[in-house]
Parts: sequence; structure tokens; C-alpha cells
Amino acid sequence: EKSGYEHFMLKEIHEQPQSLRDVMRGRLLPEEGMSRLGGITLSDADLAKVERITITACGTSWHAGLLGEYLLEELARIPVDVQYASEFRYKNPVIEDNTLVLAISQSGETADTLAALREAKRRGALTMGIVNVVGSTIARETDFGMHLHAGPEIGVASTKAFTSQIVALVLFSLYMGRRRDMSVLEGREMVEALQRLPDQVEEILQQTDDLRTLAEEFADARNFLYLGRGYQFPVALEGALKLKEVSYIHAEGYPAAEMKHGPIALIDEEMPVVFLAPRDPVYAKVVSNIEEVKARSGRVIAVVSDDAPELQGKVDHLIRVPQTVPALLPVLTTIPLQLLAYHAAILRGCDVDQPRNLAKSVTVE
Ligand code: M6R
Repeated sequence: EKSGYEHFMLKEIHEQPQSLRDVMRGRLLPEEGMSRLGGITLSDADLAKVERITITACGTSWHAGLLGEYLLEELARIPVDVQYASEFRYKNPVIEDNTLVLAISQSGETADTLAALREAKRRGALTMGIVNVVGSTIARETDFGMHLHAGPEIGVASTKAFTSQIVALVLFSLYMGRRRDMSVLEGREMVEALQRLPDQVEEILQQTDDLRTLAEEFADARNFLYLGRGYQFPVALEGALKLKEVSYIHAEGYPAAEMKHGPIALIDEEMPVVFLAPRDPVYAKVVSNIEEVKARSGRVIAVVSDDAPELQGKVDHLIRVPQTVPALLPVLTTIPLQLLAYHAAILRGCDVDQPRNLAKSVTVE
């Protein structure tokens, strides 16, 4: 069942080139620089009326939702807010006409996400789902949506579902963006970058031995910080969650520049700090955040694209990922963080597939 892998988590990490091909299959229109989404059964006229999107989810799916905010705002110019389903369901959410509520869930059965969805429907919202499990309750109860086709995810820690959620959100942003003010050339660039993505993930997966060595150096740490900006901020949150849930090392994710408003007080020679620093429009800003941490003797692991000459000799470890458009870099930078969490957990003797106190799908409040 684990096809030769020792754990489901490792198997599912390694399945990502395939799960990414599967979420894109039949959905790319390279000439038009567009996506074709058969599950979006809304008419063009009704789609044009969507003025605002509220995304609701829990855990890793909430992190994908946060990326959805950056993606939809940048690519489709639609205002988005992202709410924890457990909060949304008990507050008094404002749902205006023309608000689309988007529920994201791997299992399609998470109790809080389902309750948030039902509350949104009660208030007359149009609802969409991005779900992995076909026939699940959330898939059935939303007006329309997209399936991830990632195959079963058995490991409690979500891995392949997260990267597929990101790609699904990129496809949806393209779908909405090209109907608004995204040019055909921008659309084509995105489609071409999507086509390259599975092979780029494959390339990163070959670094698994290097990440094991890195994990050996840090497996005894008591705390970790994960920092990123823009599209890399949600990746920082997800990297920290992955490490916490499988290795039980305390970790926090933060927007890199928020560090100086508090967490910087934690930095000393004991504190590993993972910086997400691929080459994107905020790269130079992240480099100066790295310098702030090094000035306080923090141990810096930087995830970078290409050779990052600015960081050579300045950080303790560099992890390289291939270059792509900023909107897709989160898929690539997530992979080494999954492997780091996995190897740290194994070295600490943890049960990666069934971490203590956790269930694969949280069907109670
Ligand atoms: O099935 P869902 O995507 O709705 O699940 C949401 C969370 O329970 C889930 O992502 C959880 O945070 C994972 N253990 C993260 O790895």
C-alpha cells in the first residue's frame, strides 16, 4: 500500500509530481492563456457579478486559502477575505449580494468548514468548494466547485492536497482573471509555468538526502521560526504547522517583517530560522530581514531560487528550488519544508502518519 515507502507521508510527498499533473489534466488552454473548469457551472454573466470572495477553511486548507487571497487579488483583482471556519460559523459574518463563499477542504467532511458553509448558504451566499474527496458532504452541498483529483491522502499531515489546492486556486484565479483584466500574454506565461511545475517538483524531491542531513543538525532544536513575505507568508505558516504536527517541535510562522514587532526578541544562537527567500518582487526586502536575524546570531536556513549570490556566505544553509513565476513559487518552496518536517520527526522517533492527538479528518467541533 505504501508502494515501497516507509510511511504514507513520504509516499504522498513523492506523489506530488503526479498529483500536480492530475489537478491540471484537461484544464489548461495554452493558446488562450486560460483554464477550462468543467465544474464551474455558473454562466459567464453570473461569474461577472462576483464582487467579493470569502474563503473559509481549517488548518492546512486555511493556509491554501490565504494563498488564494494573494492569488485572486493579484491575478483577478477580486477582493478576498479568508476566515477560519470555526470563527466564521459563530460570528455574524457580513455576506453581501454578489459575495461568493469558497470552502476549501481535503476531506470534504471537516465539521467547522461544513458548518461555515451551511451558515453562508442560510444567508443566501453563492457557494463553491475546492475539495479532494469526490462525493464528500462539502462537495455535495456547494453550488459548484473543483475537485483536486490528488488521490487518497492517508497521512494525517496534509502534503499533496496542499500543493494541489494551490494549483487549483491558480487555475481558478486564471479563470476569473482572464474574464477581467488579465492579458492573454500574462495568461500564457502562467499556463507555461504550470506545465513546467511537475518536473520542477521532481527535481526538488531529489534533494531528500540533503534535507535529512539538515534535519540531523536541527532535530534537537526546541523552537523554530518560519518567515516569508507575500506569497511566501502562507508557506511559512504551513512549514511551521507541518513541523509542529509531526515532530512536536514548537514552531511559529510569521510575515518576515513582523518579526521586529516582537518575535525578534526570541532570536539567539539557539534559534533556527527558516526564511522563504526565492527570487520574487520582495526578495531584496527578505534579504534585509535575514541580515537582521544574522546580526542577532540566529541560525538561518534559507530556501532560495537559483544561486542567490546575495546570500552566499551569509546564511548557515541554502536550500535551492528552481525558478518560476512568483505565484507558483509556493508549490516549490513547500516541498523542502515537508521533507524537513518528515525527517526531523523520524529522527525524533515520532509516528509521522498518526501524530498524537490528531485525526485525519476532524468531524467534531
Ligand atoms: O480535510 P480538511 O482539509 O478540511 O482538513 C483541515 C485540517 O484539519 C487539516 O488541514 C489539518 O490541519 C492537517 N492535519 C494539516 O496537516
